[in-house]
Amino acid sequence: MSDEDERQIGPGRNLGFNSSPASADEGESVNQGLFDDLLSGEPIFENKEVLRPSYTPHELPHRSDQINKMATILVSALRGETPSNILIYGKTGTGKTASAKFVSQELESTSSKYEVPCDVEYINCEVTDTQYRVLAQLANKFIEENERRIEDRIDRLESIRESILEGAWDETLPTDGSTHAGDRGRTDGNHSTGTDAPAGTDASTGTDAPAGTDASTGTDASSGDRFSPRNSDSPVETKGSKGPKASETEGRTSTHSNSDNLENSGTKPSPQTSSSSRNPPLDHPLADTPFSSLAELEAQIDGLLEDRDAFEEVPMTGWPTDRVYSVFFDAVDYAERVVVIMLDEIDKLVEKSGDDTLYNLSRMNSELENSRVSIIGISNDLKFTDFLDPRVKSSLGEEEIVFPPYDANQLRDILQHRSEIAFEEGALSPDVIPLCAAFAAQEHGDARRALDLLRTAGELAERSQAETVVEDHVRQAQDKIELDRVVEVVRTLPTQSKLVLFAIILLEKNGVRSINTGEVFNIYKQLCEEIDADVLTQRRVTDLISELDMLGIVNAIVVSKGRYGRTKEINLSVPLEETEVVLLSDSRLSEVEEVQPFVQARFDS
Ligand SMILES: Nc1ncnc2c1ncn2[C@@H]1O[C@H](COP(=O)(O)OP(=O)(O)O)[C@@H](O)[C@H]1O
Ligand SMILES: [Mg+2]
Repeated sequence: MSDEDERQIGPGRNLGFNSSPASADEGESVNQGLFDDLLSGEPIFENKEVLRPSYTPHELPHRSDQINKMATILVSALRGETPSNILIYGKTGTGKTASAKFVSQELESTSSKYEVPCDVEYINCEVTDTQYRVLAQLANKFIEENERRIEDRIDRLESIRESILEGAWDETLPTDGSTHAGDRGRTDGNHSTGTDAPAGTDASTGTDAPAGTDASTGTDASSGDRFSPRNSDSPVETKGSKGPKASETEGRTSTHSNSDNLENSGTKPSPQTSSSSRNPPLDHPLADTPFSSLAELEAQIDGLLEDRDAFEEVPMTGWPTDRVYSVFFDAVDYAERVVVIMLDEIDKLVEKSGDDTLYNLSRMNSELENSRVSIIGISNDLKFTDFLDPRVKSSLGEEEIVFPPYDANQLRDILQHRSEIAFEEGALSPDVIPLCAAFAAQEHGDARRALDLLRTAGELAERSQAETVVEDHVRQAQDKIELDRVVEVVRTLPTQSKLVLFAIILLEKNGVRSINTGEVFNIYKQLCEEIDADVLTQRRVTDLISELDMLGIVNAIVVSKGRYGRTKEINLSVPLEETEVVLLSDSRLSEVEEVQPFVQARFDS
């Protein structure tokens, strides 16, 4: 793996952990014994994966307060009520994402255990960073979810249909007008024809659902409205027909309009089909459904199929945003449920695209008829709400949860926990965890940094075929991580900044010390010409130098030159060679390599 290869600083780092063209080149020299050697040492790791950021731990020491608070707020969703919006703050590596994901997994699994409709959708706004993309991603997730529900529902209806046909039942449910659907249920065994009770008849079985499960009734005064279709084609798979309350709320007036409601609620319609004088057999397959005839049921299936086909996936670009919003809105409102939308790195979204997305999401509930939305925003930046519209700010911040930095002792516990699964017994010398914890505590109590350090130290030990990880491996790991950080910062600089930085590097390489802005500008200009880039003004270049200074890549101090005014003295503060490699890995800058002899000639003279 490229990430294992110490020599490979720079470009290789960008290739991700799984691809490694560089090592493929080296493959030519692969000979017998290359891996044998490496395998022969005592293994250090038992399961390295648990130290990676992608691993979600099941236990989160020192976060029970935050987790409990989240759970206390979100439990409303399981009662069919809308949970308050939550804003979670804390610096990077304080366990925000891990805790939020843990809570949402628990919420979803409890909701399916009790069959309360509640969906949690997680979006990382650092990746999905525009309103369009957030809405499109959410729309598509809900469409997928709706399609899944529709298919489930169709399966259930199909099985009822088959029961009717196979059991040679009347195609119309005979009615006596007095039997309430809810009372019918499974009061006796199977009919002599051996018809299996269709899924729908489970409705009346008491489940061990908590009181909160009557999502359909407990909400608010408008709950009556919530069941009425928003428009003529709004089917409402309100709850699985197995839901504890389903039999009471299932109901259906007619199938002649858009016959696509899943299980529209309301009361059982007055019989409208040609009534038969017979009493309804209690176990007629339609007995416990909202349908009074096979035709109605079939119309429902057709309607569902139509619905399913009507969902149009949102393309990742190209539509007007209001169209994306409306598809998203309809997809959310298709079914009755509580929807928790978790927006991680929400500050990145606001920074990049403003607060429109949050504004739109936070006012949705006033228009939704079947569903309710609750938002959990997670931010690394404590001050990001300053940039929000006051209405958004107050709605989003209904509840706030702070994740403070970990101190060294807490980090030690976290590492201890994780190391037990990650390392072979006895692979860590006793001072390793305390040192990793101490280093990471200096980095604003960042647990991610602590885990990275521990993993990297283990990898270094493994590579040097040491039997145990020792303090020195941790120190080397600290240096390596710091270098990796620089590499990453340099790699992601805009082209103009890269050119400025490259000019500084060329000057340093040629022995110029205490470089001034004018010198940088001259070389920068030549580089721009060489690669056909726009040449910025010297004023702008000075600004870019200040930015590099703030990023810790160069060190620029202002010195007074008496009556000649003031200038900057600039020095590189990162390792020259590694930085140059990263710059040259940029396809545009790689052309610049050819200009070097020329630049050098200037200095040699
Ligand atoms: N209390 C904790 N217990 C165990 N692991 C933790 C804890 N807090 C954070 N971590 C781990 O540290 C890393 C960073 O945590 P994360 O939740 O991604 O931080 P944030 O989202 O606040 O930046 C992850 O690998 C996570 O599993
Ligand atoms: Mg996070």
